[in-house]
Amino acid sequence: MEVILVETGQEGALLAAHLIARQVRLRPDSVLGLATGATPIPIYAELVRMHREEGLSFRRVSTFNLDEYVGLASDHPASYRRYMQEHLFGRVDLAPERTHVPDGLAQDIPACCARYEEQIRMAGGVDLQLLGLGQDGHIGFNEPSSSLASRTRLKTLTPHTVAANRPGFPPGEAVPRHVLTMGIGTIMEARRCLLVAFGARKASAVARMVEGPLTAMVPASILQMHPCATILVDEAAGRRLRMRRYYLDVYRRKPDWQKE
Ligand code: F6R
Repeated sequence: MEVILVETGQEGALLAAHLIARQVRLRPDSVLGLATGATPIPIYAELVRMHREEGLSFRRVSTFNLDEYVGLASDHPASYRRYMQEHLFGRVDLAPERTHVPDGLAQDIPACCARYEEQIRMAGGVDLQLLGLGQDGHIGFNEPSSSLASRTRLKTLTPHTVAANRPGFPPGEAVPRHVLTMGIGTIMEARRCLLVAFGARKASAVARMVEGPLTAMVPASILQMHPCATILVDEAAGRRLRMRRYYLDVYRRKPDWQKE
């Protein structure tokens, strides 16, 4: 597990975008696993800038999003398909047919989830999976107590996550309790995981993910078992890490080629 501490979230977002862009430049037909929420917004903004100003092309890239709300149509203002359309898909040259978000309106949910897994396999697996971190330690919408071997499936959000996600919904509209999410086993098959967490609200989850015991009560702690996981946090999110100085030192001493 590599822990990169940067001063600010903005700096972290630029670095995350740089790592994703590098993956796409190295392998133009990369398969990217993507996240939604507040944290990736400046990352997508930077990728859009690179597309417009530096010729970064997503023409041959495929994408698989982590999750979607059950019951929301793709054009609902709070759906993750719509979020992706607004922040990335509609602003770069991604082929629409190569973008995948679980179908929140699926009638047969188990079949839809099995198909999602199959589509990931058919695409050759995820090269780089971008992850955010819930304050309760969730990744995707794998809430605490999720099976560490889980696959894409229906999950029920905790009241805490429902409250955290409420700002994305029109006033007065209920946040769905059910979601479809890639499982932890699915996420762990990505060849590289890049988790980003910014801000003091994430400090406890970051410390438990990196330095706590591996436990289903902190789903992100499974990343301790991933052969290539990068944890990118800002000062505020990293302030409870006991080995903070060590992580800073490791990163400073890295040869440039290894920083990628
Ligand atoms: C969203 C997702 C979630 C979020 C997490 C953090 O696709 O998978 O795990 O990454 O809830 O959300 P923010 O970034 O809004 O704090």
